[in-house]
Amino acid sequence: MKMIIKNGTIVTANDSYKADILIENRQIKAIGTDFDTADAQVINAADKYVMPGAVDVHTHIDLQAGQFHTSDDFFTGTRAAVCGGTTSVIEHLAFGPKNCSLRYQIDKYKKNANEKTVIDYGLHGVIQYVDDNVLKEMEQLTAEGISSFKIYMTYNFALDDASILRVLKKAQELNAVIAVHCENDTMINYLRQKYVREGNISPYYHALSRSDDSEAEAVERVLHLAHIADDAPIYIVHLSTKKGLDVIRQARSNGQKNIYAETCPQYLVCDAACYKRADGLKYVMSPPLRKKEDITALWRGLADGSIDVIATDHCPFYWKSDKQAGINDFTKCPNGAPGIEERAIIMFSEGVMKDRITLNKYVELLCTKPACIYGMYPQKGTLLPGSDADIMIIDPSENQKMNINNLHGTVDYTLYEGLNVKGKIINVIRAGEIVYDGNFTADAGTGSFIERRVLK
Ligand code: URP
Ligand code: ZN
Ligand code: ZN
Ligand code: ZN
Repeated sequence: MKMIIKNGTIVTANDSYKADILIENRQIKAIGTDFDTADAQVINAADKYVMPGAVDVHTHIDLQAGQFHTSDDFFTGTRAAVCGGTTSVIEHLAFGPKNCSLRYQIDKYKKNANEKTVIDYGLHGVIQYVDDNVLKEMEQLTAEGISSFKIYMTYNFALDDASILRVLKKAQELNAVIAVHCENDTMINYLRQKYVREGNISPYYHALSRSDDSEAEAVERVLHLAHIADDAPIYIVHLSTKKGLDVIRQARSNGQKNIYAETCPQYLVCDAACYKRADGLKYVMSPPLRKKEDITALWRGLADGSIDVIATDHCPFYWKSDKQAGINDFTKCPNGAPGIEERAIIMFSEGVMKDRITLNKYVELLCTKPACIYGMYPQKGTLLPGSDADIMIIDPSENQKMNINNLHGTVDYTLYEGLNVKGKIINVIRAGEIVYDGNFTADAGTGSFIERRVLK
């Protein structure tokens, strides 16, 4: 089937220009003018921005965390994603049974996702311990299109420095990317235990127990470890602090290569005052929300290129049931918040429409850079002949108020309830097909696994 998107402003990471897009066989066939519209489905995009479908490289759509399970599965999570303009995701696997192989979790996720996903997806292998077999699996999986791995410096399967070094050295040999959750586990446990002992168990103490020092220390340590491992490719997930950002800048200015950094909308829009609200448990996530100064520093970091990617860390737990587990003790609240559908429009409104980032920077941060870093470019993340026809169309003249009832996931709250949003996503095209135009129309299992390459 042939589709033509006419009269829009095409926006990529480098360019904005008026042209039409011709789509055939799930891909962009050509960009130009005067395409023959006979037999074509035509979308009029006059006065609209035509952008690559957004790429979300940090999701926990389907996560078992202790007794809790995220509210989404791969159908509802990717439905929410695509209605919010996101046409590909890379999921961070949950921890599996103790001592399980990497492949054990990957097989489980692939089966599940293949049955349910409505958009293309990739997987990050999550490393929960390190031995010779795991290192061998990294090699095999990289060859099979899983060219990135996630490690944690906190939680139950935190790796020690010796293990991190082994993973980083293997990644350097493979040119695979290691995504790291950077928080100093010892500092956090010390403060958590102290606050609980003192009876300080309200959500605000979640933020105090995970101080900016714990993020900055972990970022600094892991960057030094990556440096020792011959500048292994390292990607800092969900950066939330000015201190952590300063450490990244310092390492780069020392000449260290292959450092990438990600932040998420919640760290750019919400601050730690949210924990003092009656519904403060909604905001319990790790790392926690920070101070206004951190928010200002992160926006600067996006604008000046110090931060490469905006992803979501989408990890939805029901407010009315699961998040309430923290009502008498913040340490019992499952960590994580939803955001897969909100990201693209919130960042458009808060970033582009408030002149904090340019339109091209917006596309770079949400589409192009994440696709490049994780080996999916130019299939994903841009608008070029030959790229997948994954496209988001935004009308900058429409305003809306964020409201959970208008979202398409399963979770019962949004962090941004009531926020005035400038701009609206009016069409989302996935593999050359309109799957959202105010209504969602896609079937479970119509997305595919993305075989990703290694970093160039
Ligand atoms: O609180 C969060 N972010 N939960 C999801 C897991 C993680 O740390 O990324
Ligand atoms: Zn994390
Ligand atoms: Zn160093
Ligand atoms: Zn995460």
